[in-house]
Order: sequence, then structure tokens, then C-alpha cells
Amino acid sequence: VRSNGLAGKKVLVTAGGTKEPLDPVRYLGNHSSGKMGFALAQACAEAGAEVVLVHTQVELPLPLGVRSVFVRTAGEMYEEVTGRFPETDIVIKAAAVADYRPLTCSEQKIKKSGSHLTLELVPNPDILAELGRKKQHQFLVGFAAETENAVDNAFSKLQRKNADLLVVNDVTKPGAGFGTETNIVSLIFPDGSREDLPRMSKLDIAREIVRVIVSRQS
Ligand code: PMT
Repeated sequence: VRSNGLAGKKVLVTAGGTKEPLDPVRYLGNHSSGKMGFALAQACAEAGAEVVLVHTQVELPLPLGVRSVFVRTAGEMYEEVTGRFPETDIVIKAAAVADYRPLTCSEQKIKKSGSHLTLELVPNPDILAELGRKKQHQFLVGFAAETENAVDNAFSKLQRKNADLLVVNDVTKPGAGFGTETNIVSLIFPDGSREDLPRMSKLDIAREIVRVIVSRQS
């Protein structure tokens, strides 16, 4: 029997990778498939929450009962997430958000010149950090995609972004991270404690994360 531990709660989940345009035909992106975020949206809906899923373009069916909000760039995701934040109880940020975007987006396709091309990048707003600064009653779950010192880096990320739970995946491990059906994660808590989960389907991991949120949030 499934718990309805999130009944009456408004949850916002982000999923997928942002695409930062360079010109009309090219973008800077990453390998996120959206699977982790979509699994989280499904698990939250199963637990009775009202779920809004802010996602980029992905090849996945929308989970039953979940409201979809489509975005392309980190800037659009920032607007949708921060705008909805005041009336949201729980935010889960599984999206892979570009830290940088091209300073300018060329109106025409950039021509090949035969010599080096240098792109100037500017930082995107850090959505999770902004929510961490603004949060009142909300419970904030961040993700961390790490390639080295996963747990140490994740703990400092949790503190920096004022999250209530950080889910870290070492994206270099087989069966973990981008595009896979499974993931291997550790849950990091603000008191420094940590729970390591074995390799499981992304949906089972999402259900574990929901269990932890239900037990921790007031
Ligand atoms: O989509 P899949 O193919 O299933 O892959 C899942 C995943 C690997 C993308 C997912 O499990 C994951 O790790 N997501 C977070 C990826 C990421 O951007 O990690 P980060 O360490 O760069 O960012 C840390 C946190 O800050 C994340 O919650 C991120 O959403 C958030 N962030 C980052 C940058 C930014 N400008 N704004 C943000 O809110």
C-alpha cells in the first residue's frame, strides 16, 4: 500500500537539461534525459501531492496527474520556478541547469571561418541558491552531479545553497547519472549525516526520496 504522505502538498519538480542558444541552430547543452526528474514527479503524485513539473524538451511521457510547464533555458526555468515558489511547499531540483550561457545569441547562423572561434560565456542565475535565500516554510531538495569527491562537494553545496536535503550522484559510476534507467545516490542532510542507497531504478530512488521528505518536513 502506498503512503499518501504528501496529500495537500504542492510540489515543484524540475527535470531535463537546459539549452542555451548560440545562434538559431545551435545551443550549449548537457546529457540530462529528464528521467530522474520525471520519476520524482511520478513518485510525488503517487504520494498524493499536487505536482508541477518544470522541464525542458525530453522524450518521456508525462506522469499521470502531473502538470507540465515547458522551458528551454536556465533563464526561463529561473522565471517559472521563482515565480511559483511562494505558493509551493516542496521543491525538488533534479534538472541539469547550465551554469553559463553565451553572452550573445547570434541572429544568424555563425559562419565557419577556418580559424579558432572563442565563445564568451556569462554566468546564469543559480536557481537553487536563490530559493535557499528566499525560503520560508518550503522544503528544498537539491541534486549534485559530481565527478570527484562526490560526498564532500555535495555537503558544501548543501550548505552554500541552504537546501534541506541534497541528493548526490557520482555521474562517472556505471548505472548512475545521466540518461541511465538506474541511479546510485547518497542522501546528504544538513546535520552532516548521510544515507547511501544501492543502485536502483530511478523510480525506486524517487520513492525513497519521497519517503525521506515525508519523514523530515513539517
Ligand atoms: O535527467 P537524467 O538523465 O535522468 O539524469 C539525472 C541527473 C544526473 C541530471 C540528476 O540526477 C542530477 O544530478 N541533476 C542535477 C544536475 C546538476 O545540475 O547538478 P549541479 O551539481 O551542477 O547543480 C546542483 C544543484 O543546483 C542542482 O539541483 C541544480 O538543479 C541546481 N542548479 C544548478 C545551476 C543553476 N544555475 N541553477 C540551479 O538551480
